[in-house]
Amino acid sequence: MNGEILLAEDVPSSFVDVVREAFTTRPGPVFALALSGGDTARRCYEQLAAALPAPWWTDIELFWGDERCVPLDDADSNHALAREALGPVFATVRSVHPMDCSVGADPYDSLLRSRPALDLVHLGLGPDAHTASLFPGSPALHAPAARLVVDNEDPLGTNPHRRMTLTYAGIARARSVVVTVEGAAKHEAMTRVIAGDPTAPAARIDADSLVWIVDRHALDAPSPR
Ligand code: 6PG
Repeated sequence: MNGEILLAEDVPSSFVDVVREAFTTRPGPVFALALSGGDTARRCYEQLAAALPAPWWTDIELFWGDERCVPLDDADSNHALAREALGPVFATVRSVHPMDCSVGADPYDSLLRSRPALDLVHLGLGPDAHTASLFPGSPALHAPAARLVVDNEDPLGTNPHRRMTLTYAGIARARSVVVTVEGAAKHEAMTRVIAGDPTAPAARIDADSLVWIVDRHALDAPSPR
C-alpha cells in the first residue's frame, strides 16, 4: 500500500484536523476540495461544517471524486449528500463543480486539467476494497494514464448506478489525498489494502501526500466471541 496510516479514535474528527492543516498550508488563494460519497463521508462533512471558521468556506471550491449518474437532488447523489451534510455552509462556498454524467466525463476531465491540482481529495473505502468509483474488475482501473476522469460502473452490480470517477491518475494529481475508513465491516478491505492485494482497487492509489485515517475496528481483526 502507499501512504501512511493514521489510527484514529474518531475518524471524522481526525478528518477535520487533516482538512484544517491542508487548508492553512494551501499554496494558492483558494482551496480545491474533492468530496466523496458514503456514510463515513457524511459524518465527516457534518463535523467539517461545524468546525471550520465560516470565512474559510468562501475560499473553498467544491469538486467530487466520484458521482452516481442520477439527478443532483436524488437521494443517491453524492452532490445531495454533501449539500445535506454541509448544511448552510454549502451556500457560502466559493464555487461548486458537480459531476454531470449527462455530458460525459470529458468536460470534467478538462475542467481539472485546466486548473491547478486539487488541494485535497477525500476518498472512502468500500467493503469490496473499491475507492471513489474504482470498482474491482471495472474498466476505469485500466483508464489511459492521461485520463483524470472517466465514466465507470461496477461489473458485479454490487454498487448501484453508472458512475463518473477520478482515475488513479486523477487521484495522484492531487496535492494531498485522505482516505477515511471506519468500522469492522472494512477490516477485510483494509487488510487487503495493507497487503497490497492487486485485486483491491484502493491498494493502488498513490499521491505525493496520502493519509489513511483508520479506526481500530477497521484495522484490527475482530476479537473472538
Ligand atoms: C460512493 C463513494 C464510495 C464510498 C465508499 C465508502 O460514491 O459510493 O464515493 O467510494 O466512499 O463506498 O462508503 P461508506 O462510508 O458508506 O462505507
